[in-house]
Amino acid sequence: MTSLARPPAPSTLTTSPLHAASPAGPWWRDAVIYQVYPRSFADADGDGIGDLPGITARLDHLAELGVDAVWLSPFYRSPQRDAGYDVADYRDVDPLFGTLADADALLARAHALGLRVIVDLVPNHTSSEHPWFRAARTAAPGSPERGRYLFRDGRGPAGDEPPNNWTSVFGGSAWTRVTEPDGTPGQWYLHLFDPSQPDLDWSNPEVRAEFEDVLRFWLDRGVDGFRVDVAHGMVKAPGLPDWHGTTAMIDGGHDGTFGSEDGATGAGSAGPMWDQEPLHEIYRAWNGVLAQYAGDRALVAEAWVEPMSRLARYVRPGEMHQAFNFAFLTTLWSAPDLRAVIVESLEANDEVGAPTTWVLSNHDVVRHTSRLGLEVPGSRPNGIGATDPQPDEEVGLRRGRAASLLMLGLPGSAYVYQGEELGLPEHTTLADEERQDPAWWRSEHTERGRDGCRVPLPWAAAEAGYGFSPTGATWLTQPDSFARYAADVQRGVPGSTYELYRTALRVRREQGLGTGSLAWADGLRTEAGRAVGEDVLAFVNRDVLVVATVGEADVVLPPQAVPLVTSGPTRTTADGRVVVPADTTVWALLTD
Ligand code: GLC
Repeated sequence: MTSLARPPAPSTLTTSPLHAASPAGPWWRDAVIYQVYPRSFADADGDGIGDLPGITARLDHLAELGVDAVWLSPFYRSPQRDAGYDVADYRDVDPLFGTLADADALLARAHALGLRVIVDLVPNHTSSEHPWFRAARTAAPGSPERGRYLFRDGRGPAGDEPPNNWTSVFGGSAWTRVTEPDGTPGQWYLHLFDPSQPDLDWSNPEVRAEFEDVLRFWLDRGVDGFRVDVAHGMVKAPGLPDWHGTTAMIDGGHDGTFGSEDGATGAGSAGPMWDQEPLHEIYRAWNGVLAQYAGDRALVAEAWVEPMSRLARYVRPGEMHQAFNFAFLTTLWSAPDLRAVIVESLEANDEVGAPTTWVLSNHDVVRHTSRLGLEVPGSRPNGIGATDPQPDEEVGLRRGRAASLLMLGLPGSAYVYQGEELGLPEHTTLADEERQDPAWWRSEHTERGRDGCRVPLPWAAAEAGYGFSPTGATWLTQPDSFARYAADVQRGVPGSTYELYRTALRVRREQGLGTGSLAWADGLRTEAGRAVGEDVLAFVNRDVLVVATVGEADVVLPPQAVPLVTSGPTRTTADGRVVVPADTTVWALLTD
């Protein structure tokens, strides 16, 4: 008997391979690493500023979430002019955050829970309160004390013009003039960031020896690796030549910022202060230091370097292990753009045998849930204030969840910034009087800066300060919306962002997605039977089909694909086909 009406042909997947699965390797190749920003994670002593005992007490949350490791932003002794990225003593804990014994206790608890710990290393600059810089200020021009930094005579007959035209990443000149001990106007010193962050001279062997010793200090205490701050900036071009580009961390930014309104990218890392060849010799030496310790200790580069092939040079064998993929973070919400950056990243890293290190949010950029709710989704203002255009919270959250599930479905390692697992939005209406980011002051109030992504986390919806601190104190005021995002109203609630992350991390591990493959999947159809357009990203990683609808709606999963994780609601047609709506990511197991 023949049937009269033939059912529509199921969409047949065809694939084009881009990246092959890798055998099991060291932990960092596929780890999901959670960034803790200590002053805003959890406060134990009630002063409104997070601390190490607060982190230790909440490590169970991270183990339950299912991450592999924790990266701690700086907790070292510091006058806190740039929230701890201005270090006065690399071998001690700031009393704000606790003691060395608290750091040891944190490490022990994390390791007992099976979590690795990476700490921040800030080698480009010290604090101006560091003993070396205090000594340099009072020492004579040309002295060994000044030789650890970049002191130069000024230009012009009276030496009252800066030695070159560089601007600081935070705005204003990158040079500050000192007054010599005899009261006369003196030399100038270079600071790519705030004047309280003088740049070290990395051609000085004493500087190199000191940091190798700092590495050993923390390796001996048991840390599993280091996130290296401004890893592309420590070495400057000989002669410190003038530069007519902007000294932004990445091109497309305004003068001296981390952000860009339009998400444009370019050759921002091409200036004489960035990405200089002798950096690689330093990282080879550090790799050698880490290799003397058991346990696959890792170095991760914070290097805002373009193009991807230049960034990949930091993770060549024998150098660093990971480098944050900021090109992915800075890509607009556009499927063709995302596809292009995924291709470029995997190809460049495969070339050197390194994993790709995906990231969407950190303590320097507007949270991705909020960026994706802006009129140009994914654009990067350097902070958002009450008088700026506000993101659409609902749209941003939907896209944010879709973006996160896309990221976690990609082969490689991934970083999750604290609060991201709660779908936390940026604080976009923080009072300007509360702002503490030096960028706000140094840009003469043209850049709101990074405080909005650094607001203390909400743990408990009904408690004062949302349970951040036992006293209810918080160093920045939290927005009312945080009540909806508190951890305790999400834990155990199906469909919450917290449970989405938890499920995704479990499935990612079970399916081996982190060491997995990527083959673009073609042949998907819309509900009406049309071929899907460019707005859909679809790929197969091992046995899992990942479909992200970045605009186009109504993508039908092929019949052999059984949904495992979805970032938002899907629909099922009368004949049982699963339809993926707009701004949604689905992971589905391919059953044949
Ligand atoms: C890095 C840090 C940032 C800091 C800057 C200067 O980019 O992530 O927070 O302000 O370095 O240390």
